[in-house]
Amino acid sequence: MTTPKKLFIKTYGCQMNVYDSERMAEALGGSGYVTTDTPEGADMILLNTCHIREKAAEKVYSELGRLKGLKLDNPALRIGVTGCVAQAEGAEILRRQPAVDLVVGPQSYHRLPDLEARVRAGERALDTDFPEEDKFDKLAARPKARRGPAAFLTVQEGCDKFCAFCVVPYTRGAEVSRPAARVLDEARDLVARGVAEITLLGQNVNAYHGAGPDGADWGLARLIRQMARIEGLKRIRYTTSHPNDMEDDLIAAHGDCPELMPYLHLPVQSGSDRVLKAMNRQHTAQDYLRLIDRIRAARPDILISGDFIVGFPGESDEDFEATLDLVRAVGYGQCYSFKYSTRPGTPAAERDQLPEDVKSDRLARLQALLSAQQTATQEAMVGRTVGVLFEKPGRMPGQMVGKSDHLHAVHVQAGPEWLGRVAQVQITGTERNSLAGQLVAGQDAPA
Ligand code: 5AD
Ligand code: SF4
Repeated sequence: MTTPKKLFIKTYGCQMNVYDSERMAEALGGSGYVTTDTPEGADMILLNTCHIREKAAEKVYSELGRLKGLKLDNPALRIGVTGCVAQAEGAEILRRQPAVDLVVGPQSYHRLPDLEARVRAGERALDTDFPEEDKFDKLAARPKARRGPAAFLTVQEGCDKFCAFCVVPYTRGAEVSRPAARVLDEARDLVARGVAEITLLGQNVNAYHGAGPDGADWGLARLIRQMARIEGLKRIRYTTSHPNDMEDDLIAAHGDCPELMPYLHLPVQSGSDRVLKAMNRQHTAQDYLRLIDRIRAARPDILISGDFIVGFPGESDEDFEATLDLVRAVGYGQCYSFKYSTRPGTPAAERDQLPEDVKSDRLARLQALLSAQQTATQEAMVGRTVGVLFEKPGRMPGQMVGKSDHLHAVHVQAGPEWLGRVAQVQITGTERNSLAGQLVAGQDAPA
């Protein structure tokens, strides 16, 4: 038997990259690779990169600078760059860093085994095509091991919205939805391997419109309802959504589909209509607030999360105040917020930019407000009983950690037999980024 080669993958950025990294590891499993947790001693290193903000992209080059030294100890080491930086910068990476052997964009991961063979033979390879074939078809279906209780499943990729700040439509391409039957097969396979919670992923996941097995076009709500019927699948989530694609049946599903968890990431980016227009968001602040009302009418305890950009070109003090007003009106459970970062090739990159100190100032003010809302949301959970899916042992002896229905991390005194199970937990206290709770008495310990 030949010794397996070692593969180290470092994943940056969004959950779709996490999913893609798993698929790449499976694809290279067929070429004799097993994954390892450290770059030292690896035969292949892949950096699965993110291009969404400048800092994220720059990290790749500094990491490559550190990793290239490992080639001195192991001349057989091959280094690859995948993900959105690979797609956006392509051949430039090969030019800038001679230690890189392989550059592969997100639409070409199914070609990794061939590309690996080429770089093993001493070539430097670049593949940033947008091929016609469905990469997921080619990536799936290897004999798979048991896995953790929560998994990601990509159902849709790419974006046709062209927000003026965003590189996604360029790096991930036009919106494409996977056929519903394939998604459902993959979900069944995950559940058979012990998965209890699936998060459906897409850059614009609520714009999902995949071909259904009945020949009709299925929206996300229909896919979720069908998925909810899979025996053993306890929880469904989806991310990330655009406000304009929150269709009526999807909102309704939040009210009548118990498997759909009460948490929704619905970025708005700004609370100023002027800025929203300049961002090409195609909706107003009022549209968004009305939408939140309708979602809360369907599922009153839903926790809303979002993304904000401060310091977008042309954003005035007044515009920024409108963002704070919107945040106060919504009351977020949790949020991500960023300083606007110029991305080459996007329309906003051409506009007059705001000074860095203005951006930093606004970000600090916004984050103080968001953080207060997060704390208030966590405190409001104390005393409530919620479902918790246990994912791993906690730091303290006898402790398990899991995620609540509302996606809070919760630690509980519970035995390892609860791993992968959903228990009813009463929340007893809150910490900075997590909650403490106790098992509700009288629940059967799972067999
Ligand atoms: N600058 C800052 N933040 C950005 N985002 C996307 N593009 C940029 C950019 N150029 C943020 C948006 C998006 C999240 C994934 O990243 O808030 O929702
Ligand atoms: Fe980027 Fe999201 Fe806008 Fe698409 S909808 S362009 S992914 S921010």
